[in-house]
Amino acid sequence: MLSYRHAFHAGNFADVLKHAVLTSALGLLARKDKPLCYYESHAGEGRYDLGGARARRTGEAAQGIGRLWERADVPDALLPYLRAVRAANPAGRLAAYPGSPALAAALLRPADRLVLMELNAADHAALRATFRGDRRVAAHRRDGYEGLVALTPPAERRGLALLDPSYEVVGDWKGVVEATAAAWARWPGGCYAIWYPILDDAMPLRLARALVVAGLRPILRVELVRDGAQPLGLKGSGVLVANPPWTLDRELASWLPWLTGVLGVEGRGAWRLDWVVGE
Ligand SMILES: C[S@@+](CC[C@H](N)C(=O)[O-])C[C@H]1O[C@@H](n2cnc3c(N)ncnc32)[C@H](O)[C@@H]1O
Repeated sequence: MLSYRHAFHAGNFADVLKHAVLTSALGLLARKDKPLCYYESHAGEGRYDLGGARARRTGEAAQGIGRLWERADVPDALLPYLRAVRAANPAGRLAAYPGSPALAAALLRPADRLVLMELNAADHAALRATFRGDRRVAAHRRDGYEGLVALTPPAERRGLALLDPSYEVVGDWKGVVEATAAAWARWPGGCYAIWYPILDDAMPLRLARALVVAGLRPILRVELVRDGAQPLGLKGSGVLVANPPWTLDRELASWLPWLTGVLGVEGRGAWRLDWVVGE
């Protein structure tokens, strides 16, 4: 059932878009002095070894983070993300990639908390090992949809939840909507970031509409298509951000065209940044 292992894909172009959106959003939320809580329903291992057999088998990171981590012309708003990647690779060779939990941990402050959920036993063991000794982090072996609803709202009342399933089962498209809607009912002040793969036009549209029908608003949509002419497989990566921090749209606009130019297959990359629904 849980055959998907993120270690094969860590640092690919889809991860880069998701993690760049995440770090921008968390950076804006962390500007306020008050503590916040970060939730992740599908956390993975937390950190990835790009020299390991699984990452080397696909080589996907070379076409993702490998294209930008050392560039000198990076837009300012992307620097916190790239600084965290560079800090994970102090020898100057791209050997490791911080997953979303490690990126969030790098950006958050001593008084913030991270509540991470991962169902796969091996990935959960790796996640726990990644954060051993970090008192801000609770890593649960738990269904992320159920856990997100059960563990919200946080005492801090502020924060962000990332929902990042693999979509290896079609039920994930429904699962993210139901869990986000249920968490939103308990915690309407939270920000919710939902990642999705772009394989065709239909499923991303249905996902956005379902969240609108569930009553979430406002919702910002950000998409990066790497290769619009690709007939099969993963063409692009998208994130819907419900109740985004103030000015997130402007911040994303400052780097999305640049990132598309770097990651897109020549002449076939495209981006989109719009409001699915306003206030
Ligand atoms: C796309 S990966 C997560 C990657 C991670 N968010 C990152 O960006 O670094 C999805 C993860 O969800 C886990 N998973 C699958 N179904 C789950 C469920 N119902 N609840 C929690 N985790 C689940 C998988 O084992 C996998 O590690």
